[in-house]
Amino acid sequence: MITIKKPNEIEKMRVAGKLTGDALKYIEEHIKPGITTAQINKLIHEFITSHDAIPSFLGYRGYPASACVSVNDVVVHGIPGSYALQEGDIVSIDVGVIKDGWNGDAARTFGVGKISAEAQKLIDVTRECFFEGIKHARAGRRLGDLGEAIQKHAESNGFGVVREMIGHGIGRNMHEDPSVPNYGKAGTGVLLKSGYTIAVEPMINAGTFKIKFDSDGWTTRSADGSLSAHYENKIVVQDGETLILKL
Ligand code: MF3
Ligand code: CO
Repeated sequence: MITIKKPNEIEKMRVAGKLTGDALKYIEEHIKPGITTAQINKLIHEFITSHDAIPSFLGYRGYPASACVSVNDVVVHGIPGSYALQEGDIVSIDVGVIKDGWNGDAARTFGVGKISAEAQKLIDVTRECFFEGIKHARAGRRLGDLGEAIQKHAESNGFGVVREMIGHGIGRNMHEDPSVPNYGKAGTGVLLKSGYTIAVEPMINAGTFKIKFDSDGWTTRSADGSLSAHYENKIVVQDGETLILKL
């Protein structure tokens, strides 16, 4: 079932979204060679709890941290640990909060120091995929319109769109209906209505779209070891232009 949020609920979701955005801005300043992924997680955890919010990832299906920190070929769900970032790495950071009962969920990929032109292109194209996709996130359009736009932009740049992990509805729960694939066919899929709130999150690999999992059951990597990037915000579907619930 897809819930339609009321204006006062959307306002609360905007506040939760602002907090995820602020957490990502805060952590960006700390992304330098030498910081460990566990230190990044600790800073994010403290940022969230000091803003009267709950880190929604911590304990979710047994996930052991407050952020996902995914380096280089790790697509998503990298578990923070002792790895220290190195110049030239790229790192995707995914943050979820519950503020006043409503969820925020957002991700960005950052470069560590000077990165290769190919890595920068992957980060840029992944961000562009998000914006290409949400052009179609309006009442009366379908999720296939959004998925096709994302897929076309990624593939026309020679990149692979991860299929097995997708975006999702979001609200009082982190994951709600509908599923929001980053691929598809225009004119197909769920019909969008005003008041739907969805997290759009392209995960784009520099090589194959295929993925594999580490034995920890979480860490998700590109199957060919190529770099991977992630860009996520939640949005509200309206009659007119899409509103990003993160300022
Ligand atoms: N942020 C992820 C998503 O967008 C979920 C994180 S999984 C968790 O769906 F286990 F880390 F919570
Ligand atoms: Co998400």
